[in-house]
Amino acid sequence: MENMFSVAGKVAVITGAGGVLGGSIAKSLSKAGAKIAVLDIRQENLDQRVSELKAAGGDAIGFICNVLDMNSLKSTAEKIVAEWKKIDILVNCAGGNIPGATLAPEQTVFDMKIEDWEKVTNLNQNGTVYPCLAFGEIMAKQKTGNIINISSMATYSALTRVPGYSVAKTGINIFTKWLATEMALKFGDHIHVNAIAPGFFIGDQNRAVLINPDGSLTDRSKKVLAKTPMGRFGDISELNGAVQFLCSDAASFITGAILPVDGGFSAYSGV
Ligand SMILES: NC(=O)c1ccc[n+]([C@@H]2O[C@H](COP(=O)([O-])OP(=O)(O)OC[C@H]3O[C@@H](n4cnc5c(N)ncnc54)[C@H](O)[C@@H]3O)[C@@H](O)[C@H]2O)c1
Repeated sequence: MENMFSVAGKVAVITGAGGVLGGSIAKSLSKAGAKIAVLDIRQENLDQRVSELKAAGGDAIGFICNVLDMNSLKSTAEKIVAEWKKIDILVNCAGGNIPGATLAPEQTVFDMKIEDWEKVTNLNQNGTVYPCLAFGEIMAKQKTGNIINISSMATYSALTRVPGYSVAKTGINIFTKWLATEMALKFGDHIHVNAIAPGFFIGDQNRAVLINPDGSLTDRSKKVLAKTPMGRFGDISELNGAVQFLCSDAASFITGAILPVDGGFSAYSGV
């Protein structure tokens, strides 16, 4: 029987693949038979990921690439096409909050440093838009492709302390819908642009605000769990199935969607 969820033989470009979320998605797509182009700005993250994927029997190549540099993105796209002839999938994982852009509990928005606002909105918004343009142009020529952006719970209702991150991720939501529309209207019905919106997963970027040094839950993480009907944090591997589904033939009529993977957090009013 044909597997409608198959991604075998597809070429997947993953930005920020040296990180936690990108790494998990890279390993999962690789295990499912996709070829992985690992993109990261940090050499050590890149090298580690490429060797892990190869050691597990996958086909992987690595590129140092800054998602905020259009020239770097375009030349990387050309190199990938020269090597593997096509680009089927783009997963935009480079991004995340930055320490200076998180307000301390005693601060207000008026204490926010404009440089940190600019850094976090630039990385999270343009760091997704620019790769969509560089790799999306190739998909437009091919008339086929799948783009997956990473949204956030910070786009459904106000999440305290992270104003810049929230605004940038909300920008990603509308850009996902906008580009999905543009691609379908102008380049046909085989290009899909969707996003996943992860709920709360303990990662390097948010560990300090969710877990106390003694391992106990912070007040913030108690609030998160109280508003998560499933009553737990997610395991990072629980995003992989949603990504593979959206990249597969099973999602052939889905575009412009933002799929929450959040244990019900976005569905629940808290009451
Ligand atoms: N971890 C979570 O709980 C969680 C939850 C919701 C959303 N997210 C989102 O998932 C995405 C990835 O998060 P993560 O936890 O894996 O982060 P991470 O810090 O582990 O990984 C990010 C990777 O991106 C790379 N990177 C940073 N700037 C770059 C640039 N300019 N060009 C290319 N690469 C760059 C970093 O070197 C790193 O390897 C982010 O968009 C984040 O906001 C994460």
